[in-house]
Amino acid sequence: MRILLIGPPGAGKGTQAKFISEAFNIPHIATGDMLRLAIKSGTELGKAVDKAMKNGQLVADDIMVALVQERLRGDDCANGFVLDGFPRTLPQAEALTRAGAELDVVIEIRVIDEEIVRRITGRRIHPDSGRIYHVIYSPPKNAGVDDQTGELLIQREDDQEETVRRRLEVYHKQTEPLTAYYQDLSKNNLDHRPQYFYESGRGSIDEVKEDIFRYLDALNFSR
Ligand code: AP5
Repeated sequence: MRILLIGPPGAGKGTQAKFISEAFNIPHIATGDMLRLAIKSGTELGKAVDKAMKNGQLVADDIMVALVQERLRGDDCANGFVLDGFPRTLPQAEALTRAGAELDVVIEIRVIDEEIVRRITGRRIHPDSGRIYHVIYSPPKNAGVDDQTGELLIQREDDQEETVRRRLEVYHKQTEPLTAYYQDLSKNNLDHRPQYFYESGRGSIDEVKEDIFRYLDALNFSR
């Protein structure tokens, strides 16, 4: 089961990808998390991508393609994966297709920009696990701390309003065209073509989850 979640920053990709990964026991591959870990660990990759991420710009395609191709070779990806945050440009999507990573389902989550700003500026994360909260929409049991470990939650450096608006611009210009790319692929006469599912991300976290699982269950993927 190879699933791609696509949508603007803050649409809820990471939130929904975690539900899918747990329900279907497949890895959640979040390129943003991989890059943040590299920065935290001070690796060469981390040093190379730090500035672009802080400014809300995209990291270079060749770096991202190499990173994801390596990750998809992992044994844990043999039964599938949920991709979240990659591909983000046409060259990345074409590289993924060329590498033979045949996607079964592409799920687009769409949310209007002003709601995105509300969601992202209220987001808090637990840096070690990647668990995601929102101060209003999905608050932790105790304010400011992770439910499972009791450790402090943080706000991502790129979650300030000005940077969020820049990330949205980048999304509309460079990533949104991929929705047409995958819709075209889904209509192609290929042996293996992805199903395309459009989800309006306007509902609550649980409503969006229910819609997505109703759709996936109808495709008869085993849980
Ligand atoms: P990345 O970490 O991938 O960030 P993003 O795509 O901008 O997405 P987000 O993580 O911000 O949002 P999300 O859709 O996962 O939303 P979430 O579920 O957290 O990338 C960061 C940076 O890394 C990029 O800017 C770039 O520099 C670099 N990068 C990464 N991949 C790259 C690539 N392939 N190429 C080049 N550069 C790359 O939800 C957001 C908030 O809303 C949360 O607080 C959540 O609780 C809440 N929420 C979720 N759903 C709902 C709902 N239905 N109702 C109410 N609240 C909700």
